[in-house]
Amino acid sequence: MKLLLLGSGGREHALAWKISQSSILEALFIAPGNAGTKQFGKNVNISPMNFEEIKVFVLEKNIDMVVVGPEEPLVCGIHDFFLQDELLCEIPVIGPQKYAAQLEGSKDFAKEFMQRHNIPTAKYASFTKENLNEGIAYLEKMNPPFVLKADGLAAGKGVLILDSLEEAKLELYQMLADQKFGKASQKVVVEQFLKGIELSVFVLTDGDSFKILPEAKDYKRIGEQDTGLNTGGMGAVSPVPFAQGTFLDKVTNQIIIPTIKGLKNDKIPYKGFIFFGLINVKGEPYVIEYNCRMGDPETEVVIPRLKSDILDLFEGIATNTLSERDIQFFDQSAATVMMVSGGYPEKYSSGKSIYGLNSVIDSLVFHAGTSADGPSINTSGGRVLAVTSYGKNIEAALAKSYENIQKISFDNAYYRKDIGFDLI
Ligand code: AMP
Ligand code: GLY
Repeated sequence: MKLLLLGSGGREHALAWKISQSSILEALFIAPGNAGTKQFGKNVNISPMNFEEIKVFVLEKNIDMVVVGPEEPLVCGIHDFFLQDELLCEIPVIGPQKYAAQLEGSKDFAKEFMQRHNIPTAKYASFTKENLNEGIAYLEKMNPPFVLKADGLAAGKGVLILDSLEEAKLELYQMLADQKFGKASQKVVVEQFLKGIELSVFVLTDGDSFKILPEAKDYKRIGEQDTGLNTGGMGAVSPVPFAQGTFLDKVTNQIIIPTIKGLKNDKIPYKGFIFFGLINVKGEPYVIEYNCRMGDPETEVVIPRLKSDILDLFEGIATNTLSERDIQFFDQSAATVMMVSGGYPEKYSSGKSIYGLNSVIDSLVFHAGTSADGPSINTSGGRVLAVTSYGKNIEAALAKSYENIQKISFDNAYYRKDIGFDLI
């Protein structure tokens, strides 16, 4: 199989690493990839958002399958673009069509979907500029903290959690009347605050059946003890000790099965990953958000725990035979720690040389934001490297990642030293 993988982060490096191990892979291309993905395939300098250029490349190289890493091309309809093109329509795309991708692309769409299918989630109401006054009145009836969510994609910045009613009203006004997040906040979801511990669960689905992947917990805040600004994710662990047994059964029965059935009942085709952002409230799972793709850095711990051939599973999705495919996992735990550029998630500089990558022993270093400059590898983003290790438990896995991080350096590097702190 000749495969094109779209994206350029740690998630795509981990996917490329796994795909490259498949017995049915003939060639792997990554657009645009990074200095890490190059080890496992050929990087192609095309943006995942440039559908026309992707088309030309796919036809020129006789690509058999396209796997979409990030959400943006999915939300913008890359899968539909393939289905609607005479020359591309037979080429399977792993990742949902535009309509289904609204599970991530529109908070209001996701909430309506959950409500329709009785999937546990925080109580909510949606508002636009036209009924802003009702939104203010709704806030006045709620208890703090107040949760405001821009409906559309806002690069991870569209969710505000506020303690003061006055601030919440002002933010709601700014989001709706002043379009604080542009088009993304033309509609705002106001929802009940849920108190609990978060985790992520992932499934692969062909629209009929599904396979549950190992769950993970990521650490989103920049500072230790989960303080400071939100980031894309500073580290992750898998498995999540509290998410076994009864809790996972509840997730399966109350959330995953109703989601897959709901999509089917609503006649919404779905082929790809579903990421369930969950919260455990006193032993009961609730959905905080859906994403239409894998998480990053969760992929860097989930995919290393997958024993089965990932292309066999992707083929199952493409041909509606996922139920016939076998899926197996490694028992070992996995942990990843993200090394980021100093200053991230605010201003930071790039182009710093990275040293010590060859000294790493017994960890996998997934590149999140790197570029190759001849033989040297430079930083090219906020999140730079995800250092993943296996261990008999998450503590042991983390210890190995922290040991190897000592060997890697770049100017102004930062990482959290307490990943997993709440679980071990
Ligand atoms: P989202 O983009 O919807 O995942 O929200 C971003 C983050 O905000 C989540 O990972 C949670 O930490 C937090 N959050 C979102 N919704 C709620 C809620 N209803 N209650 C508590 N925390 C929330
Ligand atoms: N790590 C969270 C995400 O990928 O959305």
